[in-house]
Amino acid sequence: MVAEPISTTKERQGTARSARQRVFSGIQPSGNFHLGNYLGAIRNWVRQQDEYDNFFCIVDLHALSLPITAEAMRSNILNLASVLLASGLTPEKSVIFVQSDVHEHAELCWLLNSVTQFGELRRMTQFKDKAGNNVEGISAALFDYPVLMAADIILYDANLVPVGEDQKQHLELTRDVATRFNQRYGETFVIPEPDIKETGARIMSLDDPTKKMSKSSANPASYIALSDTPDVIRKKIKRAVTDSGTEIRATPDKPALTNLLTIFSLVADEQIQVLEERYDGKGYGQFKSDLAEATVQAIQPIQERLAEFEAHPNEVRAILARGAAQARAVAAPKMAKVKSRMGLGSGA
Ligand code: TYM
Repeated sequence: MVAEPISTTKERQGTARSARQRVFSGIQPSGNFHLGNYLGAIRNWVRQQDEYDNFFCIVDLHALSLPITAEAMRSNILNLASVLLASGLTPEKSVIFVQSDVHEHAELCWLLNSVTQFGELRRMTQFKDKAGNNVEGISAALFDYPVLMAADIILYDANLVPVGEDQKQHLELTRDVATRFNQRYGETFVIPEPDIKETGARIMSLDDPTKKMSKSSANPASYIALSDTPDVIRKKIKRAVTDSGTEIRATPDKPALTNLLTIFSLVADEQIQVLEERYDGKGYGQFKSDLAEATVQAIQPIQERLAEFEAHPNEVRAILARGAAQARAVAAPKMAKVKSRMGLGSGA
């Protein structure tokens, strides 16, 4: 979570990058960045930034799969870029860019459609969840969404994809599609591995520990948004549902406490077991109030840096423009290779 002040960020060096494993991950600019996004994904991106050759993408084309106005899209993209920078991603260590600035993503998606089966996409649980009872009325983009995600990843020959648990099935599909392409056209793509952490990969709703924390929830008390004030965070945690009994333990019969202990462990950087011992015999009141303070402590510095980035939108835009140029430098030659493998184009 150590963000460079904007004034000192400089273009990172391209050299020693190639020896490192490549990481690619993405996040949708659909508004309401929440604690689940942070703990399940972004925090890990930031922590692992030094180890890998990183590409982090604001996936605006994915966000088109549900209705969104142009104004909302524009402001969500800039806001999310500021959030990522405020969370500690830095252009010195990561290529940070917007998906639609690199046209090869959409282009590769179409090519991969030809090696993806209708049945594979119909089985995606996230598609089934989001489509609900309205399969006839949803956009074709929502259906094709996982193919675009596969394109994002394999366009960069990513080795590792750090995501939350909800993306696991999409990663499996990505591997299947890439493997099928390689079998049909010859070795072209690296087969990526998911990087899903044991703790925090599935942060649950505060009002219902059987549902994942989600920005699409109708109840704002179910999630902690990065934009929540300390008082709102305290209120939401105080109201979070608990399990029957009084013990503060992370056990399968205590899904609500398991979730709160998981959040506590990540925001305070302490082992769940240590927290269980500390709160042994203590009531929920003390536990929740300490958890709320630890969460505020983790979020506040990000909010402060966010305000700084928001005051300098042109600097953020410049970082995204440089990121897009760096991404294109990898994506363009890869697409040329893919098209040639598939016999596409005039050959001119
Ligand atoms: P998105 O925008 O829904 O979420 C961004 C990241 O946050 C994680 N996440 C969670 N982790 C833990 N607990 C939760 N409750 C929770 N909610 C969300 C997600 O798993 C994700 O890692 N399809 C992707 C975006 C995408 C992508 C990609 C990701 C597009 N192309 C290529 C990786 C690689 C999505 O909608 O994430």
